[in-house]
This record gives sequence, C-alpha cells and structure tokens, in this order.
Amino acid sequence: MGLFSLFPKREKKLKEAVDLSVLHTDIHSHLIPGIDDGAHNMETSIELLRELESLGYKKIITTPHVKAEVFPNDINELDNLCEQLRHEAKMAGIDLSIEVGAEHLISDDFHDRLKQRQFKTFCGNYLLIELPFCAPPMGLNEYLFELQLAGYRLILAHPERYLFWVKDFEKFEELQDRGVMFQINIMSLGGYFGEEVKRLAERLVEKDMVELLGTDTHGQRHIEAVRNTLYNPVLDKLIKSGNIINRRF
Ligand SMILES: [Fe+2]
Repeated sequence: MGLFSLFPKREKKLKEAVDLSVLHTDIHSHLIPGIDDGAHNMETSIELLRELESLGYKKIITTPHVKAEVFPNDINELDNLCEQLRHEAKMAGIDLSIEVGAEHLISDDFHDRLKQRQFKTFCGNYLLIELPFCAPPMGLNEYLFELQLAGYRLILAHPERYLFWVKDFEKFEELQDRGVMFQINIMSLGGYFGEEVKRLAERLVEKDMVELLGTDTHGQRHIEAVRNTLYNPVLDKLIKSGNIINRRF
C-alpha cells in the first residue's frame, strides 16, 4: 500500500454554493406538524419553511408519510391541515406557495387503497411513492403497473437509498423503462446517508436517470445536511444538466 492510499481522497468542493432557487419547487418534505416523523409542532414547521425559503425555494410540496401501520394518515384530512400550515406561514411573513401531497409506502394495504383511489397526488396526478428500505415488496412491478393503469404518474422517492439494488442496478433501469421518475435527496450527494448511498446517487446522476431533487426535510438536521451539500460538484453538474424538472411543479 503506497503512502497516499492511507489517506482518503479529499473531495473537490466548489468555490461558490449551488443556487437552489433555480429549482423553484421542493417536492419532498415532512412539514405538516405532528402527523409523521417530520415537524412535531407548528413552530418547527414554520422554522423549517423559513429555512427552505432562505435556501431559495419559492414553492413547497410537502409530502407526509402514509404508511399503514406506522403513520396511518387519512389523506382526506391533508388539505385542511395544509390550509392551517399555509395560514400560519402567511401570518409569519413567509412568502412560499405551499401544497400538499404524500409519500406513499408501497405495502400490503395497496390493493384496498387502489380500489378506493386513496392516494394523495399533487399537480394533477403525480404520486410520490417509497419502498421499504430492507427489501423490495413482492409483486412490485404489478403494483406499479396497476397504478400507472389507473392514471398515476409515479415518482420514486430517494432511489439511492434502496441499497438492496446496488448490485442489481438494472432494476433501476427497468423501473425507468416502465416510466417511473426518480427523485433523489440533495443531502444524499453530500454523504448524509453514508458512502454507499452517496455512490449510488452519483451513479444515478452519471447515467442521467435523475429528474427530480428533494430536500426530504424532516427537521433542522436535514436543512443543515442540504446546506453542507451546496458546494458539491455533482449537485452543481446535475442542476446545470437540464435534466431536473422541479420547476414544472
Ligand atoms: Fe420522505
């Protein structure tokens, strides 16, 4: 082993921070207070909205978890809860447009949900979905196909966190061939979730497979992680690539 290989390679950093205002819209966050593992109360929600505004965003589509056993949120209540958040944000002088969608976990309750069309979409028929982190659900392709057949336009949240496919990269390609859009978390590129997630995020970027960026803000720690990623050359390259369509939302 040579002397230099004892030291980890120092990563290049940009001289100037990436300007997130070009994205216009953040499409993934947990800012409806008290209903999932995001902001616990309205005060925190307002602080986080203020931070997102200071990062340059103009619009927030917040996406509370809908997971049958962990966060069994009723999607029919989300518009009212969002209206309260919007009202409080306005009172606090925050000039952000705020909408609500959801982050739906693909799980066993899926068929009942589909029968009753119990999915919270945004901007028409866009639907943010996530997978369990331990293993892909059985019958995933059928689930996705049925959702698409029902007219939903699918966005997969943070594909770079599904490490079960690291050695099975063609699964990602297959999903994209099926028309599923990929949203990666900005902080993944900064290493917030570890080296493996970072490398997978970079690989997806390298292959032009990323169309959307999200902060996935649950708390202040994620705002800091996003700020720490602003000098990241891969993020810069991605935003300048013209592949990112956050602005359309
Ligand atoms: Fe999330």
